[in-house]
Amino acid sequence: MSEIIVSPSILSADFANLERDIKAVENAGADWIHVDVMDGHFVPNITIGVPVVKSIRKITKLPLDVHLMIENPEKYVEPFVKAGADIITFHYEAAGEKSREILKMIKSFGVKAGISIKPKTSPDEIFNLLTTADMVLVMTVEPGFGGQSFMADCAEKIPYLKNNSPQNMIIQVDGGINAETAKVCTRLGANSLVAGSYVYKSDDIKTAIDSLRG
Ligand code: DX5
Ligand code: ZN
Repeated sequence: MSEIIVSPSILSADFANLERDIKAVENAGADWIHVDVMDGHFVPNITIGVPVVKSIRKITKLPLDVHLMIENPEKYVEPFVKAGADIITFHYEAAGEKSREILKMIKSFGVKAGISIKPKTSPDEIFNLLTTADMVLVMTVEPGFGGQSFMADCAEKIPYLKNNSPQNMIIQVDGGINAETAKVCTRLGANSLVAGSYVYKSDDIKTAIDSLRG
């Protein structure tokens, strides 16, 4: 695995050709597959759930990086683990005081546990969770849809999170990531990049993925 973990978001893939589109990023050197799960409550959009993760588990060996944008995430941890998730990230805004317990629950299944914050959430709200989480996901757009513009001020949370985390913390960014905004984020200390539309709408997926690594 390269130093920067690139996790293409299948939200921008063609769901009628999901296997083809997952193989395409796999062959182009993606490290993880980012799966955006939305419930129509936590965010104003509905996407995919456990059965889809179960199906894609069979067609790729890459780690499945499942981003839960849902209420009551604790109810769905075990089903997603059983379906084959390797990394499960939920939102601090959805879990509040239950966050530490949920991180521990995720880790107890032997998968990586991530905590995510929306643009308006200050990083110091999750200060006390940084020793429990394996990954912090900094949203650089309001969660809910692909293809939005990068919010540069959100990336400014990265140094604080890096400075207050154990050395092996994965700091992931998600939303509006392209070759330019990737550079901004990696310079600030991010080591995992989610990119949906930039990868899937490009003419050459391999060039796009390579460009994210700088
Ligand atoms: C947005 C999702 C993202 C989305 C990113 O709520 O969490 O993962 O797919 O899409 P782009 O890269 O197009 O901003
Ligand atoms: Zn996402």
